[in-house]
Amino acid sequence: MRISVIGLGYMGLPMAAVLARAGHEVVGVDINPKAVDAVNAGKCHFAEPGVPEIVAEAHKSGRLRAVAKPEAAEAFILSLPTPVDHTTHKADMSFVEAGAKAIAPVLKGGELVIMESTSPVGATEANVRDVIEKLRPDLVGMVAYVFCPERAIPGNTLHEMVHNDRLVGGLTEAATARGVELYKTFCKGAVIPTQARVAELVKLVENASRDAQIAFANELSLVCDQLGMDAWDVIALANRHPRVNIFNPGPGVGGHCIAVDPWFIIHAAPKVTPFMKAAREVNDSKPAFVAGKVRESVKRVRGSQGLRVSGSRVKVACLGLAYKPDVDYLRESPSIAVVEELAGDEGLELMIVEPHIESWDKPLTKLDKAIKEADVVVALTGHKVFKELPEGALAGKAVVDSCGVFRRRGDVSSTVSQEVQA
Ligand SMILES: NC(=O)c1ccc[n+]([C@@H]2O[C@H](COP(=O)([O-])OP(=O)(O)OC[C@H]3O[C@@H](n4cnc5c(N)ncnc54)[C@H](O)[C@@H]3O)[C@@H](O)[C@H]2O)c1
Repeated sequence: MRISVIGLGYMGLPMAAVLARAGHEVVGVDINPKAVDAVNAGKCHFAEPGVPEIVAEAHKSGRLRAVAKPEAAEAFILSLPTPVDHTTHKADMSFVEAGAKAIAPVLKGGELVIMESTSPVGATEANVRDVIEKLRPDLVGMVAYVFCPERAIPGNTLHEMVHNDRLVGGLTEAATARGVELYKTFCKGAVIPTQARVAELVKLVENASRDAQIAFANELSLVCDQLGMDAWDVIALANRHPRVNIFNPGPGVGGHCIAVDPWFIIHAAPKVTPFMKAAREVNDSKPAFVAGKVRESVKRVRGSQGLRVSGSRVKVACLGLAYKPDVDYLRESPSIAVVEELAGDEGLELMIVEPHIESWDKPLTKLDKAIKEADVVVALTGHKVFKELPEGALAGKAVVDSCGVFRRRGDVSSTVSQEVQA
């Protein structure tokens, strides 16, 4: 098929390349010239394992190219941003609507239009079909609309995009059947037919459920802190129960999905979602708690004989900006919220370490230098390189470990036995 993927970001570009690998003729569309130029040079404009290789291969095969404005195609896949407005908690559907408006003029009738962007219930109808039909009343009833949520995770996008089970929910049964047929050309997981509204809600539910589970662990970490216990210790012991599986705490919740998608449910049904709202609030409050622990450590370092103080300002190394280990993905990252909360504090000097990116809004410090110079070391992301710091590197330093990356180390005091941690 001739397929156009609108939006060549973290999800759209791998999808375009996967489709090209499956034999389709793919035209990617993006308003960002960097993305278009990269694809036309056979390159990927962001870091994601395996994607540069598959893009290069697809480009070489002649089945993948990119343009700035949509062209006619048999199927369109919208992979556009759907951020949340942090004040109103309403989904910002302007990118999706702009994409729908951009494809409307090239539609002829008979096309399949697939929405992959995570969206509030009813969006395929209201923000895609209705937007197109308003501009093209001649196409009413002539285009097949489908919602197919993307479930892949950064760091393993390529594998999950192909191997995860897929929901294909059409606005009509005929549209669903056409969507299923297309996804079966490259999906190794099950391709499950459903309705658009069901698929829209299921995607949101998946992330709201994970948000709630993480909130439970994060709340537990506050309880353990108040009671003077190690949260990981308590969770590891509770998980020895055959039917208990508690997640691990962290500095909050980040990423494009889990910190955003529950709001689309809460906004649609505010009166019946106090639990989901509380989970969001618990997770959103965690960075401030971690910043508070850092401030306590800074105070302790100042008043302590045993710990090293390098100068008039206490040096604080913040390890990790990414929202999860071993990726360069910073969106909605709670680590950034911690860093920003501390950035204005007098009397401390922040050294920010993120080995997975070249530069950031604030200057970055190399890991070795930060560890050598720091009085306080704050672990914000569980990157492998932090886990592998040599034994003794943290000796004599105050450590705030928000994500459990320094567990099992002899040079960081811990209440947890090795056996429990295993
Ligand atoms: N990234 C993830 O982990 C992930 C996982 C599952 C689902 N999703 C969902 O997938 C969707 C896309 O996410 P993403 O991470 O790929 O976003 P992204 O920001 O990485 O990519 C979106 C791309 O769309 C382009 N764009 C914006 N407006 C456009 C327009 N009018 N026409 C053409 N291109 C336009 C942008 O330039 C950008 O390259 C979102 O709804 C997101 O919630 C993301």
